[in-house]
Amino acid sequence: ADRNVAKIGIEDGEMRKRLPNAIIIGVKKGGTRALLEILKIHPSIRACSSEVHFFDRDENYEQGLEWYQQQMPASLPHQITIEKSPSYFIRPEVPERVYGMSKTVKLLVIVRDPTRRAISDYTQSLERKPDNPPFEEMVMDADGKIDEDWSKLEIGRYAKHLARWLKYFPLHQIHFVSGEELIKRPAKEVQLVERFLKLKPFITEDNFFFNESKGFPCFVGKITENGSVKKSHCMGETKGRKHPDVQEDVLERLREFFRPLNGKFYSMADLLGDILV
Ligand code: A3P
Repeated sequence: ADRNVAKIGIEDGEMRKRLPNAIIIGVKKGGTRALLEILKIHPSIRACSSEVHFFDRDENYEQGLEWYQQQMPASLPHQITIEKSPSYFIRPEVPERVYGMSKTVKLLVIVRDPTRRAISDYTQSLERKPDNPPFEEMVMDADGKIDEDWSKLEIGRYAKHLARWLKYFPLHQIHFVSGEELIKRPAKEVQLVERFLKLKPFITEDNFFFNESKGFPCFVGKITENGSVKKSHCMGETKGRKHPDVQEDVLERLREFFRPLNGKFYSMADLLGDILV
């Protein structure tokens, strides 16, 4: 499979579109967009602005790797091409397909407390379906038990999804980013990503300032498509939404539900037990 990649990318040494060497594979609502925006500050990163959904949508996958490569921004040989499509992490067919493109591609997963993640996902769904019942109602089945099959909970079974990736990729090729830390200490968290991607350290605390009214960090020094430096920008209104208040007893039950699943994820990913809090 790696031979295909070599075949497509023959003329080295100039600005051209290349297949990604790193992919943000998930998780949805973990902070995937913010992570990508921050990485774009680095001069050695070239990123796709929109989600490509190559490996998870058959109609795209069937177009082949040439099509995928065409979706990428042009880059120089020393630069890293990166794209993010958050549903890659949870789709069973994706790990094998990614492996078929490259055995050495680096994978980034930004994770977040799965209870918060579910509420964030639910909040987003209200934009398309404002008549959805309250979160508490949707998370319970008719017997008042947690509906473990609800897609918004299913995505939070990180260990189950990760197990499928580990059939193809060694753990050292996957880097986990803490969604919480990316908000609280963005420079520190993204410096770990720079190290994982073997990039020259570039992003520092000076690239961030906290926006009190938004309640989130904003960024300084983004390189725009035409190479000029944009002074400062925050994520748009669809990032950092206000969540509805969820009843404390429901929150507690969800945390209980996820606790053993998180524990399994920590040991599988060889992580300390504080990345999801
Ligand atoms: P909420 O909108 O629920 O707060 P994704 O890009 O994967 O959809 O993730 C969206 C989440 O990114 C937001 O969820 C927010 O918590 C998080 N996030 C991380 N850093 C952010 C930032 N600097 N500005 C806004 N949202 C940020």
